[in-house]
Amino acid sequence: MNYTFSNRIASLQPSIIREILKASSGQNVIPFSAGNPAPETFPIEAIRTFTQSILEQDPVTALQYGITEGYVPLREALQQHLERNFNTGKPSDQLFIVSGAQQGIELACKVLCNEGDTIICESPSFIGSLNSFRASGAKLAGVPMEMDGMDIEKLEHALQTEPNVKMIYVIPSFQNPTGVTTSLEKRKAIYELAKKYGVMILEDNPYGELRFSGEDVPTIKSMDEEGIVIYVGSFSKILSAGLRVGFVQAPHEVVEKMVVAKQGEDVHTAMLPQILAHRFMTQYDYAGHINHIRDVYRRKATLMMENLQEHLGDAVTYTRPDGGLFLWCDLPAHVPMVDYAKTAAAQGVAVVPGNAFLVNEQDPCNAIRLNFSTPSDEQIVKGVEILGQVMRSSFS
Ligand SMILES: Cc1ncc(COP(=O)(O)O)c(C=O)c1O
Repeated sequence: MNYTFSNRIASLQPSIIREILKASSGQNVIPFSAGNPAPETFPIEAIRTFTQSILEQDPVTALQYGITEGYVPLREALQQHLERNFNTGKPSDQLFIVSGAQQGIELACKVLCNEGDTIICESPSFIGSLNSFRASGAKLAGVPMEMDGMDIEKLEHALQTEPNVKMIYVIPSFQNPTGVTTSLEKRKAIYELAKKYGVMILEDNPYGELRFSGEDVPTIKSMDEEGIVIYVGSFSKILSAGLRVGFVQAPHEVVEKMVVAKQGEDVHTAMLPQILAHRFMTQYDYAGHINHIRDVYRRKATLMMENLQEHLGDAVTYTRPDGGLFLWCDLPAHVPMVDYAKTAAAQGVAVVPGNAFLVNEQDPCNAIRLNFSTPSDEQIVKGVEILGQVMRSSFS
């Protein structure tokens, strides 16, 4: 059969970089390339107990169709939690449950953007979102990330010059891939610019609860008086990534359209994971669990940074994240990023070359993304030592 694919999918090609990534994801490879939560943060025992009691006490709700907006008790608990902790949710907003933040991002694009409309993104940014936007036929305009968030001058320039800008996509806290947190000043500036140019903001905050140092910074959604912010969050990094429960908080009219769009995708998010998420929020030591995750990531991030200092010293510069799962490491100018990643993979350490995350992969970049949540402590120590050896033996 000669398969003829749709234009929107046929034009998406696997990049060489992503192929390198696939080739370096074997069993014995130290995974600095992944973005998975640490397995020791899964509350396995609680999930086992809750699942059993749900199936004993309320099997029909768990196994029957549900409404697209999501399990009502979960939405109520979440609404209160978000209001208390992130100061989000106005009477004009609605909260609904999606199958992971990824679906919320895809739905936001689906309901707002026509083919050819522009989405302004931080560059680098989360590959899953960039690919979803690309697949929708949207045009992406990248604005470089700085140590405190997007370059605001370049953001305004893009708003003035790009055709039909519909949305600014931002990951303001512990960004994937850089680990950067957007400053309060820049959050306000992004909000004011979106207001001025009449575009929406898609605020993606899956790591919002995973701060392990420094002070909380208000969400952009908490500033939203105009109904221009779509806020997306997730249980993936705090409960389990495999259960696929995320949420969207946005103006009623926008949520209504997203709900209709979701009906054509998966009807509703699976009920059992939603009920589990509700019990996790209301019948478990939620705050204690979050503190446990923060402790794990603080330890792993610190271990990685200490070892980077020891084995790569001043040869590289890297971000020092206050939360999340990643740091971003700039290589010396004479070390080609892709060759370095290939050599490291051959030595058993998988890292992702930074240009995989750029809006335009050809833009200048000489960095690698390092994930500290997936590898064990021993793998962090061994892996960074190997990265140092690779630098000295192949690139000095
Ligand atoms: C910035 C960002 N947004 C969204 C997602 C998707 O999360 P989920 O598992 O909730 O779909 C990820 C996953 O790693 C992410 O890093």
